[in-house]
Amino acid sequence: MDKPLHSTVLVTGCTGHIGSWLVLRLLEKGYSVRAAVLDPEDKQDVQPLLGLAPSLAERLEIVKADLRVKGDFDKVAQGCDGVFHLACPTNFLVEDPQKDVIEPAVQGTLNVLNACVKSSSVKRVIHVSSAAAIRFSGKEVAEQVFDESCWTDVDFCIDNKIPGWPYFVGKTLGEKAAVEFAKEHNLDLVVVNPSIVHGPFLLSNIPNSVKDCLALITGELFKLPFLARMSYIHTDDLVRAFIFLYENPEASGRYICSAVDASITEVVNIISSRYPEFKIPTDLAYLGEPVIHYFDSSKLKRLGFQFNFTLEDMYHDAIKCCKEKGLL
Ligand SMILES: NC(=O)c1ccc[n+]([C@@H]2O[C@H](COP(=O)([O-])OP(=O)(O)OC[C@H]3O[C@@H](n4cnc5c(N)ncnc54)[C@H](OP(=O)(O)O)[C@@H]3O)[C@@H](O)[C@H]2O)c1
Repeated sequence: MDKPLHSTVLVTGCTGHIGSWLVLRLLEKGYSVRAAVLDPEDKQDVQPLLGLAPSLAERLEIVKADLRVKGDFDKVAQGCDGVFHLACPTNFLVEDPQKDVIEPAVQGTLNVLNACVKSSSVKRVIHVSSAAAIRFSGKEVAEQVFDESCWTDVDFCIDNKIPGWPYFVGKTLGEKAAVEFAKEHNLDLVVVNPSIVHGPFLLSNIPNSVKDCLALITGELFKLPFLARMSYIHTDDLVRAFIFLYENPEASGRYICSAVDASITEVVNIISSRYPEFKIPTDLAYLGEPVIHYFDSSKLKRLGFQFNFTLEDMYHDAIKCCKEKGLL
């Protein structure tokens, strides 16, 4: 890959939790960033980007592009050396799953990749998929280890309407379509499958994934079964992994990016010992014993990547950020 100081990269989904943090780190590393957003006029949405230090912002260009509009990425990808594709509807509650989530996730990804091929300048694409494209095989096996060979079973998700199924289906089909397209067009595509992303954020509201992780504190008790057993990655470890994979010539295929697997009991212990001011429920026996699983990031580690943050760090950084922004 080109040296950062000479490199311009396109990032999609820049008004989001991970996208905005990635833009910050890329600019700090010396990249020039073209930040694709749905609506540059929406001041609330682009606020995290507008708030960046002027010394960084001078290498930032905010451009408009919509996943749902064919050809919208053609112009914005032109001249870029690489692309980080993060944009995707992440709402779990939608009226029309096909139109609102699955199509933008699949057809939108193909629109971005098509633009990369047309550009003749893009040398590598980092496609951000999800643990959701791995986790839901429909086979509940005790002590299951998920690695890059595992795939979500789309029919199982649809037939059983598991909560969040449109998102899981969109991420799985989007990743499969991306891999197939890249093969057909000889495009260098590296896929990242993060677990839930927790930790600091630039947005003015608590990002959805962080909010899920903080359910014990915010009182959204209906989310606790979801946290009974969860795999986590710190925001900063994740965006470092994106950049690491983008810059590493040896990177290829899909990479799970997940630092910690934990039960809700471990989360209760972290919060109650470090933040006694939050009165959280501690008797969670009613949730039952969770099925133990692990997300295996060995492939990423074998390439030389190291995680810097523990689960305690993730909670600490998220809570600190919420307090500083007056959100907790
Ligand atoms: N957070 C997690 O725990 C997690 C875990 C695994 C994978 N991921 C993946 O990481 C990526 C970013 O997630 P996130 O947590 O940062 O989500 P997020 O905060 O909801 O950000 C999603 C981004 O996608 C943009 N987007 C949605 N529909 C679009 C469209 N039609 N055209 C252009 N842009 C569109 C959103 O723009 P608006 O703000 O204008 O709507 C936003 O910038 C997603 O691909 C997600 O699946 C996230």
